[in-house]
Amino acid sequence: MGITRRDFLSRVGQAGGYSAAFLTMQGMGLMEAQPARTQAVEAAAGSGKGIKVVVLGGGIAGLVSAYELCALGYDTTVLEARERPGGRNYSVRGGDKVVFLDGTTQTCSWETGHYQNFGPARLPSIHPTILGYCKKLGVELQVEVNMTNSAFLQNDAANNGKPVIMRQAVNDTRGHVSELLMKSVKQGALDQEMAAEDRDRMLSFLRTYGSLDEAGKYNGGDRAGYAKLAGAGDESGVLSQPLDMHTLLDCSFWQGMLFDQQFDMQATMFQPVGGMDRIPYAFAKALGSSVKYNAPVTEIRKTAKGVKIGYKQDGAPRMIEADYCICALPLTILRSVPNDFGAPYQKVFHECTYANAYKVAWESRRFWEQDYNIYGGLEFVNTGCSPIWFPSAGMFSHKGVVVSGYTDESSSPFGKLPVMAKFDESRKSIERLHPGRGHELEKPMYVGWGKMPYNEGSWIRSYVPNEQRAPGVAVAPQTGQAQHPTQARTETNTGYETLIQPDGRFIVAGDHVSHIVAWQEGAALSGLRAVQQVADQAKAAKLAQAGAATNAPA
Ligand code: ALA
Repeated sequence: MGITRRDFLSRVGQAGGYSAAFLTMQGMGLMEAQPARTQAVEAAAGSGKGIKVVVLGGGIAGLVSAYELCALGYDTTVLEARERPGGRNYSVRGGDKVVFLDGTTQTCSWETGHYQNFGPARLPSIHPTILGYCKKLGVELQVEVNMTNSAFLQNDAANNGKPVIMRQAVNDTRGHVSELLMKSVKQGALDQEMAAEDRDRMLSFLRTYGSLDEAGKYNGGDRAGYAKLAGAGDESGVLSQPLDMHTLLDCSFWQGMLFDQQFDMQATMFQPVGGMDRIPYAFAKALGSSVKYNAPVTEIRKTAKGVKIGYKQDGAPRMIEADYCICALPLTILRSVPNDFGAPYQKVFHECTYANAYKVAWESRRFWEQDYNIYGGLEFVNTGCSPIWFPSAGMFSHKGVVVSGYTDESSSPFGKLPVMAKFDESRKSIERLHPGRGHELEKPMYVGWGKMPYNEGSWIRSYVPNEQRAPGVAVAPQTGQAQHPTQARTETNTGYETLIQPDGRFIVAGDHVSHIVAWQEGAALSGLRAVQQVADQAKAAKLAQAGAATNAPA
């Protein structure tokens, strides 16, 4: 009897699980393997020769653009306002100064080798473009532990405010839900929904999934952890008592539990060894003198034949002319730089809203490892600064840098606090979860992206003013995900559609013209797209020129 390809794959899947089916599909040529890779720009080698492009901004979008332009032979200049590459990809170490728009200055005095990535701090495995550049540029990566079952959740309104260990919250929830579902199936409540065969299969699944006893009851289990760990001899372990369902159903518990189920937060995640800024520095090394540092843009103009960009270099006014401009500046900055972008673009620059994410980081004894067996990962607190984020680098050393507080502060009372009061709040969160450890925190550093020169915001939240948001369109959530542009595009104003089109020889790049806002992947893909747009225009211009020459009267 012949079987269809679909049957065959489904049988492989049953026998060998998802990965066997996946490998078989790859083998049959039905699914392409997707290793870390960078997409290629479709343009002839050397097609950029003799064409000048100026790239505004040396963040990831600008650096990727410049890298790809150089590869095609374009005469490329990057104008970067700061003395360093990377933009929001910013790692702070001992000796670094963080200076805000109002002049407030913090000097970092952490031990050598310690750092904090105040911008991007994790690379999902499903972001092949940025991972592909790491591979190409020789940036060494290590695992970033985004979540650990040993971390704590805390909620003032539940469990008398006492922290709960993630493994217990996750597995007790599974147990309670499985018990209820088993009851419903046994009582016939789902008879209309399920065939008899599937009811039996469901009961056997729930027994294992929820760790239920023969009678279908959840009594706790070793997945949820121990009140007393087992040892040798007569030292038997004592299981934790299950938490009650009422406590677990509090939304600030289950939201924390599900954090790493989001597509871009799932294991395995990575980080560069030594700091996220190893990525921009690797680009900068490859680009050499194409990048001008300390060169803030002062005006962006169109000319009859191309573009003209004013900038400052070491305080002195300068001008550069080019055929094309890739503009990878934050939209918040384009509000105040005089420019010739058309009216629809100006409207978006002025009407869009940005999140102001911040992080507070401290140097401390690694109490989380030494006292709690927590290695990397996130903890969630329902009031005050959250999450707490433990370092994935330097495990088992004496001290490390821990984050206590990473959210959008733009409309929270925290945002209005002076820096010292922010530190107090941040310390309180650690104390709430790990009593007695708050006083071990030292040398705090705070970076609020809304206060940073050349950024004035962390990532785009909406392409239209807040008051014009369509009902049901969420404001950027608390833990670092931006509102997705596809959501923004359901709004009445199509700002996103405007930005992704070239404005003549001006082309916008940045994560804000991608569907992966607030991730380096989005920025990198936007850079590749911008270079493709330049290449397409340049090719069309060459063809038009050749046509004009052919048709010219002899
Ligand atoms: N991509 C950012 C994060 O990882 C928002 O938190």
